[in-house]
Amino acid sequence: MREKSAAASNPDAMSGATPRSHIVVLSGAGISAESGIRTFRGGGGLWHDFRIEDVATPEAWQRDPERALGFYNVRRRQLYSVEPNAGHRALAGLERDFPVTIITQNIDNLHERAGSSNILHLHGALDKARSTADDALIYDLAGRDIRLGNTCELGSQLRPHVVWFGEMVPELERAEEIVRHADVLIVVGTSFSVYPAANLAFLAPSHARKVLVNPEIPDTVGLDAFECIGEPAARALPRLAEELRKR
Ligand code: OAD
Repeated sequence: MREKSAAASNPDAMSGATPRSHIVVLSGAGISAESGIRTFRGGGGLWHDFRIEDVATPEAWQRDPERALGFYNVRRRQLYSVEPNAGHRALAGLERDFPVTIITQNIDNLHERAGSSNILHLHGALDKARSTADDALIYDLAGRDIRLGNTCELGSQLRPHVVWFGEMVPELERAEEIVRHADVLIVVGTSFSVYPAANLAFLAPSHARKVLVNPEIPDTVGLDAFECIGEPAARALPRLAEELRKR
């Protein structure tokens, strides 16, 4: 994973949704903002108070694992004091009428708690821990902190199950394949600042209807193929869901 360099563009036509349309959602921190979870960039963003290189890189982990664990422990505790908002719930409700896949950059669990069932966590999940000896050993934390000395069954230290800057994104190919088969693509609450996630938005086929939801439409090359809704997710998504059902 890395921060912004360049995005591909793909000008496409729009079309409507039929009951068999596969709706793919790419979500970012903005969808959880109205639940009270801070985004990363922009005013009040987490990366204003913390430096990525202190808490979210493999080097940070090597240098000061306690600090990195602390950063994610605070985020995890906060998770259980917030609730999904109308945006998460609108996406979950779409499953009654369409096949829906959510690809989220978020490590929170608000899509799950809103009732969505088909979710790919591109950047990992805050409520899981992973062995530092074997990537396949992943454990549910159920809200518990990870502390130095908490180990996997092989005796190795546990780390957050998140993708740090400089690490590979293991679910990337699966995500690309899903977007390539989208009939409707909804991109919500992302600044397109982090790659490779940002490129996914431009992989949908030309027939797909593409909708962007963000109160501050990002200045990103290739967005001319999108219908842009410049509103917060909790307001825009319930209306969009209703409209998709009516088509
Ligand atoms: P950012 O914080 O970079 O961007 C959040 C976006 O959400 C901005 O474009 C805001 O305008 C928009 N936004 C704010 N409020 C909104 C609302 N109510 N409704 C809709 N949109 C809203 O977050 P991401 O793009 O998700 O990685 O950041 C990508 C990755 O960078 C994250 O997954 C994270 C971070 O470093 C990791 O830490 C693993």
